[in-house]
Amino acid sequence: LSGQTNVDAPRAIRGAVHDRLNSVTNSSGRIYGFGIVGCGVIANLHAAALAKIENASLVAAMDFRVDRVQAFSGRFPCDIEPDLDALLGRDDVDVVCVCVPSGLHAEIGIRAAAAGKHIVIEKPIDVSLAAADALIESARSAGVTMTVIAQHRFDAGVLELRSLIEAGEIGRPILGDARIKWYRSQSYYDSGDWRGTWTYDGGGALINQGVHYTDLLRWCMGPVTEVTAVCATQNHDIDVEDVAIALLRFSSGAVGSLEATTSAYPGFRERLEITGTKGTVVVEDGVIIVRELIGDSPEAGAYGRRVAEDATPPSSAAADPKNIGSAGHLAQIADLLSAIEEGRPPLVTGEDARRSLEVVLAVYESSRTNATVTLPLQRPDS
Ligand SMILES: NC(=O)c1ccc[n+]([C@@H]2O[C@H](COP(=O)([O-])OP(=O)(O)OC[C@H]3O[C@@H](n4cnc5c(N)ncnc54)[C@H](O)[C@@H]3O)[C@@H](O)[C@H]2O)c1
Repeated sequence: LSGQTNVDAPRAIRGAVHDRLNSVTNSSGRIYGFGIVGCGVIANLHAAALAKIENASLVAAMDFRVDRVQAFSGRFPCDIEPDLDALLGRDDVDVVCVCVPSGLHAEIGIRAAAAGKHIVIEKPIDVSLAAADALIESARSAGVTMTVIAQHRFDAGVLELRSLIEAGEIGRPILGDARIKWYRSQSYYDSGDWRGTWTYDGGGALINQGVHYTDLLRWCMGPVTEVTAVCATQNHDIDVEDVAIALLRFSSGAVGSLEATTSAYPGFRERLEITGTKGTVVVEDGVIIVRELIGDSPEAGAYGRRVAEDATPPSSAAADPKNIGSAGHLAQIADLLSAIEEGRPPLVTGEDARRSLEVVLAVYESSRTNATVTLPLQRPDS
């Protein structure tokens, strides 16, 4: 896993998640005021998470759609600010959650950082490496702490998988596969003029829905060095892909695959399969459903053995984007506050998110050029 930050993250995260979910307190007793920019679908999860974090308080929100911010403040009581400057000008806003369309993340995040606010950026970090780099640099130079949402890193099964890898119990990872076979109707894409556009969504099924498991695959397998991909638009009236499939090579020499679609009715569980020299672990929707390790099952014969997949993952967003729990957001935002207090980087950094974006952009470039693409990508990018 060389080349990745936060190599000790699983143990730290498990501790952080456990501490935060059981007793959300903080050492200094300081309450952090939050402002939310963009009051659509995902803002609800941020607000629900903040309500459960003892040292966080939602104080203000803004959206250029007044109806949206009014409805939002009805659900989650807070002040309504008329514009971004007004929200950023408030002394009681310490942290800004950026919940606007993806292609605006850096623009809003940079303004928040310049105003001295810590930032929680929704995924993906933005839609180009140039924007991601500008955002990372602005947070660094302003001395504020930034995290980019990757809430599935905090799922119990994912944390356990990472610690099994770290402990060497899977052996050397040799094959890693991520499948995100979800369903989104045409009306989902029609519900926001940014959805399914290159400029503001940055792509389709892979960058929006698939980026979570792209991140987990990379987190488990290490840096991606080569991508060979095909993307297609088959079941929606959109400019971007609704199917993406890629073969990956990792810096360790391991190989893998990545598949993302929003065309698989009615939507299936997200799946991450990691095979190492000592066995295989499969995670579906954050829950380990297969754990077959030589160390656990020394009796397995030369042909291995078949296992029943009997663990039941919780309900997922496979068919409904609103069906996302807020536990992952809670854990990640609580970690950001701990990181601020402890003067350390958060468990998911801007650089982590940039690496996942780079894999996504490499998939698009490979599909566009019909050629294998090597990473790191050259900037300036698309
Ligand atoms: N972590 C997750 O699982 C998850 C799930 C869904 C969405 N997201 C991400 O969250 C972001 C928003 O997605 P959504 O589904 O909530 O979209 P949405 O369209 O429901 O909400 C976006 C809101 O931002 C507002 N907005 C747009 N430009 C603005 C600006 N300049 N200033 C203020 N407000 C502005 C819009 O009016 C809208 O209300 C996207 O980047 C998406 O990728 C993450």
